[in-house]
Amino acid sequence: MARIIDGKQTAATVTDTVAEAAATLEREAGVKPGLAVVIVGNDPASHAYVNAKSRMAKQCGFNSMQYSLAEETTQDELESLVAKLNADPAVHGILVQLPLPRHLDSEPVIQSIRPEKDVDGLNVVNAGKVASGDLASGLVSCTPAGAMILVRNIHGSDLSGLNAVVIGRSNLFGKPMALLLLAGNATVTMAHSRTKDLAAICRQADILVAAVGRPFMVRQDWVKPGATIIDVGINRIDAPEKGEGKTRLVGDVAFDECAEVAGAITPVPGGVGPMTIAMLMANTVVAAYRSVGRPIPSF
Ligand code: GUN
Repeated sequence: MARIIDGKQTAATVTDTVAEAAATLEREAGVKPGLAVVIVGNDPASHAYVNAKSRMAKQCGFNSMQYSLAEETTQDELESLVAKLNADPAVHGILVQLPLPRHLDSEPVIQSIRPEKDVDGLNVVNAGKVASGDLASGLVSCTPAGAMILVRNIHGSDLSGLNAVVIGRSNLFGKPMALLLLAGNATVTMAHSRTKDLAAICRQADILVAAVGRPFMVRQDWVKPGATIIDVGINRIDAPEKGEGKTRLVGDVAFDECAEVAGAITPVPGGVGPMTIAMLMANTVVAAYRSVGRPIPSF
């Protein structure tokens, strides 16, 4: 039976360090880290995520600013808000929750966030730093950064000789995750919806990372015995066993059967999810430290 990786506990260790670093910055430099989270429209899942981010920001002692914009918000209005936040010295981190409503184009909005305030790590400057192996001077996308902490807790920081397979190639997760594993010396395969014989490729993986958004896609016979499985999927499915109309969250991995052969596995919920929020806090406190030219804490 695999070791169950406790993302909640690891995330709490990170946010404790963040809260301490925030208190030190306020005491010694008079600067309170400020995080602005922008959400457009009424998607309930997105609102739940954003509320969790704002709550955690407060818990870390930040100045937490939430901008909830109406579904009808125009591209110009959204870009004006980002411009205002870019210019505000009290704001150290800006996050625009994705996906945006269909009439809005997310790319120009994301790219207009100043790289120093891009705590999502999605600006091309930050993505480019990760791609060129500079993990120190920019901001790394939160979910892959959090997933890497879980990987490092199992394997240490040098992944030499280990095969890693990432299923999914998004800018938000798959691409930066593959690059971080590569920076850690793993031999990395990026698999995706067009990959042939995905199961055989996954069976080579010492570290298997799934981020596709399909419940239970990774099955027991895809898993190399002893492998580490990082499940990034968050899928809401019907759960009639909990009562009529009830739902529950599951990952991309068939957890019970894969846990029988894996060496370590993240649960959903309670695995990667809490790490994403923790790394958003870490990026914000890093941005605030840099804004006053202080050496940054490490996580
Ligand atoms: N939507 C789902 N995950 C994320 C994330 O990490 N950042 C943003 N901005 N939107 C998301």
